[in-house]
Amino acid sequence: MSISLPCSVLVVGSGGREHTLVRSLLASPARPRVLCAPGNAGIAQDAACFPVAADDIPGLVALAQREKIEFVVVGPEMPLSLGLVDELTKAGLPAYGPKADGARLEASKVFTKQLLLKHKIPTAPAGIFTGVQPALDYLKKRGAPIVIKADGLAAGKGVIVAQTPAEAESAVHDMLAGNKFGAAGSPILIEDCLTGDETSILVVVSGRDYVILPTSQDHKRIGEGDTGPNTGGMGAYSPAEIVTPALLAHIDREIVRPSVDAIAAEGINFRGTLFIGLMLTPSGPSVLEYNTRFGDPETQVVLPRLQTDVLALLWAAARGELRGLQLEVRPDAAICVVIAAKGYPEKFPKGDVITLPAQLPPQTSILHAGTARDTAGQLVTSSGRVLGVTALAPTLRQAATRAYAACEQIQCASKYYRRDIGARQLHRP
Ligand code: AMP
Ligand code: GLY
Repeated sequence: MSISLPCSVLVVGSGGREHTLVRSLLASPARPRVLCAPGNAGIAQDAACFPVAADDIPGLVALAQREKIEFVVVGPEMPLSLGLVDELTKAGLPAYGPKADGARLEASKVFTKQLLLKHKIPTAPAGIFTGVQPALDYLKKRGAPIVIKADGLAAGKGVIVAQTPAEAESAVHDMLAGNKFGAAGSPILIEDCLTGDETSILVVVSGRDYVILPTSQDHKRIGEGDTGPNTGGMGAYSPAEIVTPALLAHIDREIVRPSVDAIAAEGINFRGTLFIGLMLTPSGPSVLEYNTRFGDPETQVVLPRLQTDVLALLWAAARGELRGLQLEVRPDAAICVVIAAKGYPEKFPKGDVITLPAQLPPQTSILHAGTARDTAGQLVTSSGRVLGVTALAPTLRQAATRAYAACEQIQCASKYYRRDIGARQLHRP
């Protein structure tokens, strides 16, 4: 069956994930006009960008109407949880991404934990607390290590894996008594600490239908050897060999299908990306979290491996026409190395001039995350994660060689990147 595809697409967001989405949509044989809001300096080289913030819901709806957009693809979680897709739908504009009811699966960890427990989907046992004293009593019972999670969206900073009781107690105080996380800090979850390898499974969902995208793993910590504070993600690779075909079949049966069914059973017509964060524990995969959007930087390695037209895939999901769609995946491996501003995820400079290499290795591209133009028109850093260098090659090692050759040639005073992206897989015995 051939479906007619939209001629103009608006991508919402401004990171490396959105740059990848823009590139993938532009590569569609349907040759759509692709716009972005707000975008960044790199996206602006590929698509017209409009200065409407990703959380300005009325502004985005008005932009889509004014530009006669036929399809909106939403990147980040914030507009989803603010109801952007609800408003677009009311205005008769098709969009990829869940409505606010589905976005709650990311915006509220308590809501998700209750759903997981109710539907008996494997996840760590947890208690839910709003008061400090009951939380401290629970901590005493469970001991350390233990994990404290703020309920709401906290830009990746709302999870504390406490190694000692003192650390756990101070996290509880920070979230429930202090104001470190604002309204996002209460209630909290206190959950058992799991061990194992982590992987994320990205699933394009349309109601009860879904397709699982190629496997990937990211590196969340700032430092080499997976040390230091958590970040939005310092790099990623695909496929994740640790997820063997047999393990993926198990995850599909025990986690993905039950998750999609549970969400539908709760009355949510979810059309978008369900990103399932998993811990591969010795007793089987266990859900750490759901996100309701593409991962960043996972998207940078997953989408370039698709031979399937990304526009057709997302459009089919948004329209409820996903059933029967078979993904075609390139055999090449992909890697993305994130270039951050030194000091990220804490304090880091902005406005440093970036010089990009004139020539890149084959199958290598630079995706922009936090870049802008200064008044003189120079490319400068504007955020903690600045660029992502993505490379494809027949093996992960070759892809890494290509990506790192490009990383070395990028000039920027505050350039920082991990030199061990993919090492977990490259050095696995
Ligand atoms: P989340 O945002 O829930 O995925 O948590 C962020 C990170 O915290 C995860 O990627 C894990 O590295 C870690 N984490 C979350 N929950 C647990 C858990 N129950 N046990 C161990 N580590 C966890
Ligand atoms: N890379 C993790 C995330 O997008 O949340």
